Amino acid sequence: MMAASAPGKLILFGEHAVVFGEPALSTAINLRAEVYARPHTEWLADGASLDDPRFRYVKAAVAKANTDGPLWIEIRSMIPSGAGLGSSAAVTVATLGALHGLRGSIEAPAIAREAFEVEHEVQGRASPIDTSTASAGGGILVLRQPRDGLLWSIERDQRKWFVHRTALPPLDLVIGNTGISAATGPLVAKVKDRVDRDPRAGEAVRQIGEITLDGVRALQRKDLVSAGKLMDRNHMILTDLGVGHPSLDRLVEAARPSSYGAKLTGAGGGGSIVALTDRPSVTAEAIRAAGGKAFIVQSDSLGVAKLG
Ligand code: MEV
Repeated sequence: MMAASAPGKLILFGEHAVVFGEPALSTAINLRAEVYARPHTEWLADGASLDDPRFRYVKAAVAKANTDGPLWIEIRSMIPSGAGLGSSAAVTVATLGALHGLRGSIEAPAIAREAFEVEHEVQGRASPIDTSTASAGGGILVLRQPRDGLLWSIERDQRKWFVHRTALPPLDLVIGNTGISAATGPLVAKVKDRVDRDPRAGEAVRQIGEITLDGVRALQRKDLVSAGKLMDRNHMILTDLGVGHPSLDRLVEAARPSSYGAKLTGAGGGGSIVALTDRPSVTAEAIRAAGGKAFIVQSDSLGVAKLG
């Protein structure tokens, strides 16, 4: 038997804009997915057929990794799905980790490339940020050009993303989950449609790219006040782009009095917010009082890894 795990992620700045090649900053978090694979008499995922729509990512990962089979695959994930926390990327990466592990070693760059292809196929359109963060762990900065700390680059449809390791100071982050599950693919398609039709949406995407670079600089000099203000602006622009939700606004408003800043994280349309705070339990309580589920999370430096 072979088993591998991979972390979920939080996007601190730049979601959606990164699909258009703008910079984005994320961190892996200490909520993980584990995938177990063992030879069996038929293909199964959690005891069911791989054709079940729940296993779209697993099925596509099996095809991408050219796996000899059949295998019995079991998935255990601590990451709520449809919550903007990278659950499908973590499951895809952990599945590829287990499949690669059955044949030999687990190499994060190869897995990051395959996982991006899987996510792109299943989601319709994607950037490599979720799958690269689940593969590499830690803080990840995606840029248009290579810089110090380059891990790998990923290319598709004339667009190239340079994925970097970035050092972030220890941050107290609180997730507020609205409990409204939102699929990423349709939200990504909605933003593309707006950008194609309205030049102001294209300008908003570029502004998010600038906010991301300012946000990275603010976090690196430990200027959490400026970083928080930039998160607030990023939230406003994402809402204007059509990926907000009243329940996200409610959680953001609840978190802000005890936080430096707060914004939706991931695809939006429901899902979660992230708040940057130095009073995590106060912020978590405020989110709960406003009807959200709150988790205090830490950055996780461990990417895809063999279990056991
Ligand atoms: C979703 O976690 C992040 C998006 O930018 C989509 C993507 O980058 O593939 C919304």
